[in-house]
Amino acid sequence: MFESVPTAPPDTILGLTEAFLRDERPHKINLSVGVYKDASGATPILEVVKEAERRLLATEKSKGYKPISGDPAYGRCVRELLFGAGSELASGDLAATCHTPGGTGALRLAADYLRQQHSGTKIWLSDPTWDNHGKVFKAAGLECGTYPYFDAAKNGLAFEAMVEGLSAVRAGDTVLLHACCHNPTGVDPTPEQWQQLGALLRERGALPLVDFAYQGFGRGVDEDAVGVRALVDAVDELLICSSFSKNFGLYNERTGALTVKGKRAEEVAAVFSQLKTCARTNYSNPPAHGGAIVTTILTDAELRQRWIDEVAGMRDRINGMRQLFVETLAARGATRDFSFIVDQKGMFSFSGLTKAQVERLRDEHAIYIVGSGRINVAGMTETNMGPLCDAIVQVM
Ligand SMILES: Cc1ncc(COP(=O)(O)O)c(C=O)c1O
Repeated sequence: MFESVPTAPPDTILGLTEAFLRDERPHKINLSVGVYKDASGATPILEVVKEAERRLLATEKSKGYKPISGDPAYGRCVRELLFGAGSELASGDLAATCHTPGGTGALRLAADYLRQQHSGTKIWLSDPTWDNHGKVFKAAGLECGTYPYFDAAKNGLAFEAMVEGLSAVRAGDTVLLHACCHNPTGVDPTPEQWQQLGALLRERGALPLVDFAYQGFGRGVDEDAVGVRALVDAVDELLICSSFSKNFGLYNERTGALTVKGKRAEEVAAVFSQLKTCARTNYSNPPAHGGAIVTTILTDAELRQRWIDEVAGMRDRINGMRQLFVETLAARGATRDFSFIVDQKGMFSFSGLTKAQVERLRDEHAIYIVGSGRINVAGMTETNMGPLCDAIVQVM
Protein backbone atom coordinates (compact mmCIF):
# COMPACT_ATOMS: atom_id res chain seq x y z
CA MET A 1 0.00 0.00 0.00
CA PHE A 2 2.80 2.44 0.78
CA GLU A 3 4.43 2.04 -2.64
CA SER A 4 2.31 4.67 -4.37
CA VAL A 5 2.35 7.31 -1.62
CA PRO A 6 3.83 10.60 -2.87
CA THR A 7 6.05 12.71 -0.61
CA ALA A 8 4.22 15.70 0.87
CA PRO A 9 5.81 19.13 0.33
CA PRO A 10 7.65 20.51 3.39
CA ASP A 11 5.72 22.97 5.56
CA THR A 12 6.20 26.46 4.12
CA ILE A 13 7.58 27.96 7.33
CA LEU A 14 8.94 25.02 9.34
CA GLY A 15 10.53 23.71 6.10
CA LEU A 16 12.58 26.91 5.95
CA THR A 17 13.94 26.25 9.44
CA GLU A 18 14.94 22.75 8.34
CA ALA A 19 16.88 24.36 5.45
CA PHE A 20 18.37 26.90 7.89
CA LEU A 21 19.61 24.13 10.19
CA ARG A 22 21.27 22.38 7.22
CA ASP A 23 22.98 25.64 6.14
CA GLU A 24 26.64 25.52 7.17
CA ARG A 25 27.43 29.21 6.73
CA PRO A 26 28.38 30.48 10.23
CA HIS A 27 26.83 33.95 9.83
CA LYS A 28 23.34 32.58 8.97
CA ILE A 29 20.28 34.38 10.37
CA ASN A 30 16.80 32.84 10.80
CA LEU A 31 13.96 35.37 10.66
CA SER A 32 11.37 32.90 9.38
CA VAL A 33 9.67 30.87 12.11
CA GLY A 34 7.47 32.77 14.60
CA VAL A 35 9.39 32.19 17.79
CA TYR A 36 10.46 34.89 20.27
CA LYS A 37 14.19 35.28 20.78
CA ASP A 38 16.03 37.32 23.39
CA ALA A 39 18.98 39.66 22.87
CA SER A 40 21.35 36.68 22.71
CA GLY A 41 19.25 34.91 20.06
CA ALA A 42 17.90 32.26 22.48
CA THR A 43 14.25 31.32 23.05
CA PRO A 44 14.24 31.53 26.86
CA ILE A 45 12.02 29.88 29.45
CA LEU A 46 10.30 32.70 31.33
CA GLU A 47 11.53 33.07 34.93
CA VAL A 48 7.97 32.96 36.18
CA VAL A 49 7.35 29.72 34.28
CA LYS A 50 10.38 28.15 35.98
CA GLU A 51 9.01 29.26 39.36
CA ALA A 52 5.56 27.79 38.57
CA GLU A 53 7.24 24.53 37.49
CA ARG A 54 9.17 24.34 40.79
CA ARG A 55 5.90 24.73 42.69
CA LEU A 56 4.13 22.15 40.51
CA LEU A 57 6.93 19.63 40.91
CA ALA A 58 6.71 20.01 44.68
CA THR A 59 2.92 19.60 44.85
CA GLU A 60 1.94 17.40 41.88
CA LYS A 61 0.41 14.13 43.08
CA SER A 62 -0.81 12.36 39.98
CA LYS A 63 -0.40 12.09 36.23
CA GLY A 64 -4.02 10.97 35.88
CA TYR A 65 -6.04 12.07 32.83
CA LYS A 66 -7.47 15.57 32.73
CA PRO A 67 -11.16 16.03 31.91
CA ILE A 68 -11.82 16.15 28.13
CA SER A 69 -12.11 19.94 28.29
CA GLY A 70 -9.25 20.38 30.80
CA ASP A 71 -9.35 21.81 34.32
CA PRO A 72 -12.20 24.28 34.97
CA ALA A 73 -9.70 26.54 36.82
CA TYR A 74 -7.63 26.82 33.63
CA GLY A 75 -10.75 27.70 31.63
CA ARG A 76 -11.56 30.45 34.06
CA CYS A 77 -8.03 31.89 33.78
CA VAL A 78 -8.35 31.90 29.99
CA ARG A 79 -11.68 33.73 30.13
CA GLU A 80 -10.31 36.31 32.57
CA LEU A 81 -7.55 37.07 30.09
CA LEU A 82 -10.05 37.35 27.25
CA PHE A 83 -12.90 39.24 28.86
CA GLY A 84 -11.25 40.93 31.87
CA ALA A 85 -10.86 39.73 35.46
CA GLY A 86 -14.14 41.26 36.67
CA SER A 87 -16.21 40.18 33.68
CA GLU A 88 -19.27 38.01 34.23
CA LEU A 89 -18.20 36.00 31.22
CA ALA A 90 -15.20 34.77 33.20
CA SER A 91 -17.33 33.08 35.86
CA GLY A 92 -20.88 32.83 34.48
CA ASP A 93 -22.43 30.28 32.14
CA LEU A 94 -22.56 32.28 28.91
CA ALA A 95 -19.00 31.30 28.03
CA ALA A 96 -17.12 28.02 28.35
CA THR A 97 -13.55 27.02 27.61
CA CYS A 98 -11.97 23.85 26.33
CA HIS A 99 -8.23 23.36 27.00
CA THR A 100 -6.60 22.39 23.68
CA PRO A 101 -3.13 21.31 22.52
CA GLY A 102 -1.88 24.77 21.50
CA GLY A 103 -3.60 27.42 19.44
CA THR A 104 -3.49 25.14 16.42
CA GLY A 105 -5.40 22.52 18.39
CA ALA A 106 -8.02 25.15 19.20
CA LEU A 107 -8.33 26.13 15.54
CA ARG A 108 -8.71 22.50 14.50
CA LEU A 109 -11.27 21.84 17.23
CA ALA A 110 -13.27 24.87 16.08
CA ALA A 111 -12.99 23.67 12.49
CA ASP A 112 -14.21 20.15 13.33
CA TYR A 113 -17.10 21.57 15.33
CA LEU A 114 -18.10 23.93 12.50
CA ARG A 115 -17.91 21.16 9.90
CA GLN A 116 -20.05 18.84 12.03
CA GLN A 117 -22.67 21.25 13.37
CA HIS A 118 -22.77 24.02 10.76
CA SER A 119 -21.91 22.13 7.61
CA GLY A 120 -22.96 24.93 5.24
CA THR A 121 -20.63 27.48 6.78
CA LYS A 122 -17.87 28.99 4.68
CA ILE A 123 -14.91 30.35 6.59
CA TRP A 124 -13.46 33.70 5.52
CA LEU A 125 -9.76 34.37 6.07
CA SER A 126 -7.85 37.62 5.73
CA ASP A 127 -5.64 37.91 2.66
CA PRO A 128 -2.89 37.36 3.69
CA THR A 129 -3.09 35.24 6.82
CA TRP A 130 -0.99 32.74 8.80
CA ASP A 131 0.02 30.05 6.34
CA ASN A 132 -1.49 27.22 8.39
CA HIS A 133 -5.02 28.70 8.71
CA GLY A 134 -6.28 27.60 5.30
CA LYS A 135 -4.59 24.22 5.66
CA VAL A 136 -6.21 23.49 9.04
CA PHE A 137 -9.69 24.47 7.88
CA LYS A 138 -9.41 22.59 4.59
CA ALA A 139 -8.12 19.51 6.41
CA ALA A 140 -11.34 19.62 8.47
CA GLY A 141 -13.38 19.81 5.24
CA LEU A 142 -14.43 23.47 5.42
CA GLU A 143 -14.78 25.73 2.41
CA CYS A 144 -12.52 28.79 2.68
CA GLY A 145 -12.85 32.27 1.19
CA THR A 146 -10.74 35.40 1.64
CA TYR A 147 -11.35 39.07 2.33
CA PRO A 148 -8.85 41.86 1.57
CA TYR A 149 -6.74 43.00 4.51
CA PHE A 150 -3.44 44.62 3.61
CA ASP A 151 -2.82 47.75 1.58
CA ALA A 152 0.67 47.25 0.18
CA ALA A 153 0.85 50.81 -1.18
CA LYS A 154 0.43 52.41 2.24
CA ASN A 155 1.70 49.45 4.28
CA GLY A 156 -1.42 49.54 6.42
CA LEU A 157 -4.87 48.07 6.86
CA ALA A 158 -7.05 48.10 3.74
CA PHE A 159 -10.09 48.80 5.90
CA GLU A 160 -12.52 49.95 3.23
CA ALA A 161 -11.68 46.98 1.01
CA MET A 162 -11.97 44.70 4.05
CA VAL A 163 -15.47 45.98 4.84
CA GLU A 164 -16.47 45.65 1.21
CA GLY A 165 -15.08 42.10 1.05
CA LEU A 166 -16.91 41.12 4.23
CA SER A 167 -20.17 42.36 2.73
CA ALA A 168 -20.15 39.18 0.63
CA VAL A 169 -20.36 37.05 3.77
CA ARG A 170 -23.66 35.17 4.12
CA ALA A 171 -25.63 34.55 7.31
CA GLY A 172 -24.20 31.41 8.89
CA ASP A 173 -20.69 31.94 7.52
CA THR A 174 -17.67 32.17 9.83
CA VAL A 175 -15.16 35.03 9.73
CA LEU A 176 -11.68 34.48 11.12
CA LEU A 177 -10.10 37.58 12.67
CA HIS A 178 -6.69 37.96 14.34
CA ALA A 179 -7.27 39.54 17.75
CA CYS A 180 -3.98 41.48 17.63
CA CYS A 181 -0.50 41.40 16.10
CA HIS A 182 -1.85 40.17 12.77
CA ASN A 183 0.32 37.40 11.33
CA PRO A 184 1.98 38.05 8.85
CA THR A 185 1.42 41.81 8.44
CA GLY A 186 1.72 43.24 11.98
CA VAL A 187 -1.22 45.51 11.08
CA ASP A 188 -4.35 45.60 13.30
CA PRO A 189 -7.70 47.41 13.20
CA THR A 190 -8.11 50.41 15.54
CA PRO A 191 -10.63 50.16 18.43
CA GLU A 192 -13.16 52.13 16.33
CA GLN A 193 -12.63 49.82 13.37
CA TRP A 194 -13.22 46.81 15.66
CA GLN A 195 -16.57 48.31 16.61
CA GLN A 196 -17.44 48.75 12.95
CA LEU A 197 -16.40 45.16 12.22
CA GLY A 198 -18.57 43.94 15.09
CA ALA A 199 -21.58 45.85 13.75
CA LEU A 200 -20.94 44.51 10.25
CA LEU A 201 -20.71 40.89 11.38
CA ARG A 202 -23.85 41.29 13.44
CA GLU A 203 -25.69 42.73 10.44
CA ARG A 204 -24.43 39.90 8.19
CA GLY A 205 -25.38 37.21 10.73
CA ALA A 206 -21.84 35.80 10.63
CA LEU A 207 -19.96 34.01 13.41
CA PRO A 208 -16.61 35.57 14.38
CA LEU A 209 -13.81 33.09 15.05
CA VAL A 210 -11.03 35.05 16.74
CA ASP A 211 -7.46 33.78 16.70
CA PHE A 212 -5.62 35.20 19.72
CA ALA A 213 -2.03 33.97 19.55
CA TYR A 214 -0.13 37.08 20.71
CA GLN A 215 -1.99 38.57 23.70
CA GLY A 216 0.40 41.03 25.34
CA PHE A 217 2.77 41.37 22.38
CA GLY A 218 0.97 44.36 20.86
CA ARG A 219 0.19 47.05 23.45
CA GLY A 220 -0.42 45.09 26.65
CA VAL A 221 -2.29 42.05 27.99
CA ASP A 222 -5.57 43.95 28.53
CA GLU A 223 -5.09 46.45 25.74
CA ASP A 224 -4.71 43.66 23.18
CA ALA A 225 -8.13 42.27 24.09
CA VAL A 226 -9.86 45.41 22.80
CA GLY A 227 -10.94 43.68 19.58
CA VAL A 228 -12.35 40.61 21.31
CA ARG A 229 -14.24 42.78 23.79
CA ALA A 230 -15.67 45.00 21.01
CA LEU A 231 -16.94 41.86 19.26
CA VAL A 232 -18.45 40.57 22.52
CA ASP A 233 -20.37 43.86 22.78
CA ALA A 234 -21.56 43.64 19.19
CA VAL A 235 -22.52 40.00 18.61
CA ASP A 236 -24.16 37.32 20.74
CA GLU A 237 -22.09 34.36 19.60
CA LEU A 238 -18.40 33.91 18.96
CA LEU A 239 -15.54 31.44 19.20
CA ILE A 240 -12.06 32.41 20.40
CA CYS A 241 -8.85 30.42 20.01
CA SER A 242 -6.10 31.25 22.53
CA SER A 243 -2.47 30.24 22.30
CA PHE A 244 0.03 30.54 25.16
CA SER A 245 2.97 29.45 23.04
CA LYS A 246 4.33 32.98 22.63
CA ASN A 247 3.19 35.00 25.64
CA PHE A 248 4.13 32.27 28.17
CA GLY A 249 6.93 30.86 25.99
CA LEU A 250 5.25 27.44 26.23
CA TYR A 251 5.81 26.46 22.59
CA ASN A 252 6.48 22.77 23.13
CA GLU A 253 3.99 22.32 25.96
CA ARG A 254 1.15 22.79 23.44
CA THR A 255 -1.00 25.05 25.59
CA GLY A 256 -4.09 26.66 24.11
CA ALA A 257 -7.85 26.95 24.49
CA LEU A 258 -11.08 27.27 22.58
CA THR A 259 -13.70 29.50 24.23
CA VAL A 260 -17.33 29.64 23.13
CA LYS A 261 -19.47 32.65 24.05
CA GLY A 262 -23.21 32.36 23.42
CA LYS A 263 -26.52 34.04 24.05
CA ARG A 264 -28.16 31.52 26.40
CA ALA A 265 -26.62 29.16 28.95
CA GLU A 266 -28.37 26.06 27.47
CA GLU A 267 -26.96 26.85 24.03
CA VAL A 268 -23.44 27.34 25.36
CA ALA A 269 -23.74 24.01 27.19
CA ALA A 270 -24.89 22.26 24.00
CA VAL A 271 -22.05 23.70 21.91
CA PHE A 272 -19.59 22.81 24.66
CA SER A 273 -20.85 19.21 24.70
CA GLN A 274 -20.18 19.04 20.94
CA LEU A 275 -16.68 20.51 21.39
CA LYS A 276 -15.98 17.79 23.96
CA THR A 277 -17.11 15.14 21.47
CA CYS A 278 -14.75 16.62 18.85
CA ALA A 279 -11.88 16.64 21.38
CA ARG A 280 -12.58 13.11 22.59
CA THR A 281 -12.51 11.70 19.05
CA ASN A 282 -9.33 13.57 18.19
CA TYR A 283 -6.79 13.74 21.05
CA SER A 284 -9.08 12.53 23.89
CA ASN A 285 -7.94 15.02 26.53
CA PRO A 286 -5.37 17.81 26.71
CA PRO A 287 -1.72 17.67 27.82
CA ALA A 288 -1.62 18.84 31.44
CA HIS A 289 1.69 20.53 32.13
CA GLY A 290 1.35 23.81 30.18
CA GLY A 291 -2.18 24.41 31.46
CA ALA A 292 -1.03 23.80 35.04
CA ILE A 293 1.75 26.36 34.57
CA VAL A 294 -0.64 28.99 33.21
CA THR A 295 -3.15 28.33 36.00
CA THR A 296 -0.45 28.47 38.70
CA ILE A 297 0.78 31.81 37.41
CA LEU A 298 -2.55 33.48 36.79
CA THR A 299 -4.12 32.48 40.11
CA ASP A 300 -1.26 33.90 42.19
CA ALA A 301 -1.17 37.72 42.35
CA GLU A 302 2.60 37.92 42.62
CA LEU A 303 3.33 35.43 39.83
CA ARG A 304 0.71 37.06 37.63
CA GLN A 305 2.43 40.43 37.99
CA ARG A 306 5.81 38.88 37.24
CA TRP A 307 4.34 37.35 34.08
CA ILE A 308 2.88 40.70 32.99
CA ASP A 309 6.31 42.26 33.52
CA GLU A 310 8.08 39.55 31.53
CA VAL A 311 5.60 39.89 28.66
CA ALA A 312 6.25 43.64 28.72
CA GLY A 313 9.98 42.88 28.53
CA MET A 314 9.50 40.77 25.39
CA ARG A 315 7.23 43.40 23.84
CA ASP A 316 9.70 46.21 24.59
CA ARG A 317 12.60 44.26 23.10
CA ILE A 318 10.67 43.65 19.87
CA ASN A 319 9.68 47.31 19.64
CA GLY A 320 13.30 48.32 20.28
CA MET A 321 14.41 46.06 17.41
CA ARG A 322 11.78 47.59 15.10
CA GLN A 323 13.20 51.03 15.82
CA LEU A 324 16.81 49.92 15.41
CA PHE A 325 15.97 48.06 12.17
CA VAL A 326 14.47 51.19 10.60
CA GLU A 327 17.37 53.38 11.78
CA THR A 328 20.06 50.92 10.68
CA LEU A 329 18.50 50.45 7.22
CA ALA A 330 18.53 54.22 6.74
CA ALA A 331 22.11 54.50 8.05
CA ARG A 332 23.28 51.73 5.69
CA GLY A 333 21.88 53.57 2.69
CA ALA A 334 18.37 52.17 2.10
CA THR A 335 16.58 54.56 -0.20
CA ARG A 336 13.09 53.22 0.64
CA ASP A 337 11.26 54.56 3.67
CA PHE A 338 10.79 51.70 6.14
CA SER A 339 9.33 53.79 8.96
CA PHE A 340 5.99 51.91 8.73
CA ILE A 341 7.75 48.97 10.43
CA VAL A 342 7.81 50.90 13.72
CA ASP A 343 4.01 51.12 13.73
CA GLN A 344 3.43 47.40 13.11
CA LYS A 345 2.60 45.28 16.14
CA GLY A 346 3.79 41.91 17.40
CA MET A 347 6.58 39.70 16.20
CA PHE A 348 6.03 40.10 12.48
CA SER A 349 6.64 42.68 9.84
CA PHE A 350 5.59 42.69 6.26
CA SER A 351 8.81 44.13 4.88
CA GLY A 352 7.65 44.66 1.31
CA LEU A 353 10.63 42.58 0.07
CA THR A 354 9.81 40.63 -3.09
CA LYS A 355 10.08 36.87 -3.50
CA ALA A 356 13.21 37.34 -5.65
CA GLN A 357 14.82 39.54 -2.98
CA VAL A 358 13.93 36.99 -0.29
CA GLU A 359 15.58 34.26 -2.39
CA ARG A 360 18.73 36.34 -2.86
CA LEU A 361 18.91 36.99 0.87
CA ARG A 362 18.85 33.24 1.47
CA ASP A 363 21.18 32.19 -1.37
CA GLU A 364 23.75 34.98 -1.13
CA HIS A 365 23.60 36.00 2.54
CA ALA A 366 22.24 32.98 4.49
CA ILE A 367 19.32 35.10 5.75
CA TYR A 368 16.05 33.17 5.99
CA ILE A 369 12.76 35.07 5.57
CA VAL A 370 9.35 33.70 4.55
CA GLY A 371 8.68 34.07 0.78
CA SER A 372 5.92 36.64 1.36
CA GLY A 373 8.54 39.03 2.83
CA ARG A 374 7.35 38.38 6.39
CA ILE A 375 10.16 39.04 8.85
CA ASN A 376 10.22 37.80 12.43
CA VAL A 377 11.44 40.95 14.15
CA ALA A 378 12.05 38.95 17.35
CA GLY A 379 14.88 37.16 15.52
CA MET A 380 16.84 40.41 15.24
CA THR A 381 19.60 41.24 17.71
CA GLU A 382 22.06 44.11 18.09
CA THR A 383 24.71 41.75 16.72
CA ASN A 384 22.96 40.58 13.57
CA MET A 385 21.32 43.94 12.77
CA GLY A 386 24.27 45.42 10.84
CA PRO A 387 24.89 42.43 8.52
CA LEU A 388 21.12 41.99 8.07
CA CYS A 389 20.55 45.59 6.97
CA ASP A 390 23.63 45.56 4.71
CA ALA A 391 22.31 42.46 2.97
CA ILE A 392 18.81 43.94 2.55
CA VAL A 393 20.25 47.12 1.06
CA GLN A 394 22.35 45.02 -1.35
CA VAL A 395 19.44 42.91 -2.65
CA MET A 396 17.29 46.00 -3.09
C1 LIG B 1 -1.85 33.55 14.05
C2 LIG B 1 -1.46 32.27 14.72
N1 LIG B 1 -2.41 31.44 15.16
C3 LIG B 1 -2.10 30.29 15.76
C4 LIG B 1 -0.80 29.92 15.95
C5 LIG B 1 -0.52 28.57 16.57
O1 LIG B 1 -0.04 28.60 17.83
P1 LIG B 1 0.40 27.26 18.59
O2 LIG B 1 1.86 27.14 18.39
O3 LIG B 1 -0.01 27.52 20.00
O4 LIG B 1 -0.33 26.12 17.99
C6 LIG B 1 0.24 30.73 15.49
C7 LIG B 1 1.63 30.32 15.67
O5 LIG B 1 2.53 30.72 15.01
C8 LIG B 1 -0.11 31.94 14.87
O6 LIG B 1 0.82 32.77 14.42
